[in-house]
Amino acid sequence: MANISTKMGEELKPGFDDAAWVDVLDAVDKTYAELVDYQEQLEAQNAELSSLRTFLGSIMASISDYLVVTDKDGFIADLSQSFCSAIGEEKSALIGRPMVAFFEGAMRDRMGMAMSEVVRDKEEKTFEVDLETPGGASPVDFRVAPRLDRRKRVSGIILTGRPLGEVRRAYRELEQSLEELKQAQTQLVRTEKLASLGRLLAGVAHELNNPISFVYANTHSLQKYLDRFEAYFEQVQAGASREELVELRSKLKLERDLKNLRVAIEGAHDGAERVRDIVEDLRRLSADGSGEVAPFDLAQTARIGAEWVKRGQKSRMKISVEGESPCIALGRLGHVQQVIMNLVQNAADAMQDVEEPEIQVNLSYQDDFAVLQVCDNGPGVPEELRAAIFDPFFSTKEVGQGTGLGLSISHKIAEEHGGSLVYLPDVAEGACFRLTLKRGDQI
Ligand SMILES: Nc1ncnc2c1ncn2[C@@H]1O[C@H](COP(=O)(O)OP(=O)(O)OP(=O)(O)O)[C@@H](O)[C@H]1O
Ligand SMILES: [Mg+2]
Repeated sequence: MANISTKMGEELKPGFDDAAWVDVLDAVDKTYAELVDYQEQLEAQNAELSSLRTFLGSIMASISDYLVVTDKDGFIADLSQSFCSAIGEEKSALIGRPMVAFFEGAMRDRMGMAMSEVVRDKEEKTFEVDLETPGGASPVDFRVAPRLDRRKRVSGIILTGRPLGEVRRAYRELEQSLEELKQAQTQLVRTEKLASLGRLLAGVAHELNNPISFVYANTHSLQKYLDRFEAYFEQVQAGASREELVELRSKLKLERDLKNLRVAIEGAHDGAERVRDIVEDLRRLSADGSGEVAPFDLAQTARIGAEWVKRGQKSRMKISVEGESPCIALGRLGHVQQVIMNLVQNAADAMQDVEEPEIQVNLSYQDDFAVLQVCDNGPGVPEELRAAIFDPFFSTKEVGQGTGLGLSISHKIAEEHGGSLVYLPDVAEGACFRLTLKRGDQI
């Protein structure tokens, strides 16, 4: 090709040869390819941008915390649906409004100040303010942070807020449930006390029956003697002769009555003393559990507790209390009494089918502790149940026979005393529980 005409019809200079044309066409191809590349890049960026926008939009729509983005001067640029719902207005109506408009008084000053400081210092802040909502002021935990551009300059502010109303309500409900739980627990302790009181009363009734019938029988005899002596003294006063009186005395068997009179009075006295002792024991037993922490004799407490459980038993049972005596422990006597009675009662319950049931209570000092062990020759606690017996309501007894609270309450009492209550796993026969309390003889 010698000459080529341009569109204008000009003739290209003869030096513009084929090689030059090839260069031009290459350059056009390259530019075109670059343009296509650029367009593809633009489309990809556009797609990325639009998916980013959708992503942001879905966050703004679904986030339950508040999210508000403002410009440097605190005017809202974008915000989450949750914030719009809290304020009760459409998103479009809120964009462009100053953020501080949603707070009042001191709260507004606080928010305004925090936003300016964040812009100035480029440091985030966290604080609690009341947001004005149609339902009234609502506490929100706000985090205010600077929004930085590519060159790390502050271009606006990002506020995230966690509404505290719900959390507070949940917390209040939790507190209420805890309070109810506490009341239920108190009630349970009371029920458990009533249950052991019931057992105790059975023993008391049985025990009082003996001396009272003794006193009753003796006073009945005294009444008879009194009738006869009265008959005799009536004759004395009526001026009966000596012979008549001697005869009457032998007829009424007054000599023998005189001797029996003393026996009857002593019998009634013994019976009354026994009643007094029982009442004294009972008073000690019923000592208020919430009483003072004080030194007391664990051995004597164990003896009284064991006796009372024994009295409540239908079948015969051997109970021995041995070892250190006195064994002085430090604590609330009434509570510890309850623990001992629970342990002895459990042992007694476990031995219903044992031919010669025997409970051994042993007391000792070990270092700074007073230790009480209650062992029996019953079936013991099977290994797989040992982890559960201290749990509240765990019971292998029939419904109505046990609440399953005895050991859990006893364990708690032991811990409250700075001591412990454990099941001893390595005993040859039966079950063995060890109660450890602080020593009370060294203070
Ligand atoms: N000496 C023991 N020998 C065998 N098992 C025992 C003994 N002491 C406790 N247990 C087991 O531990 C369980 C829990 O005892 P806990 O005293 O807590 O409740 P409970 O005696 O069943 O009921 P409650 O004490 O309320 O009358 C008992 O049901 C029993 O299975
Ligand atoms: Mg029990």
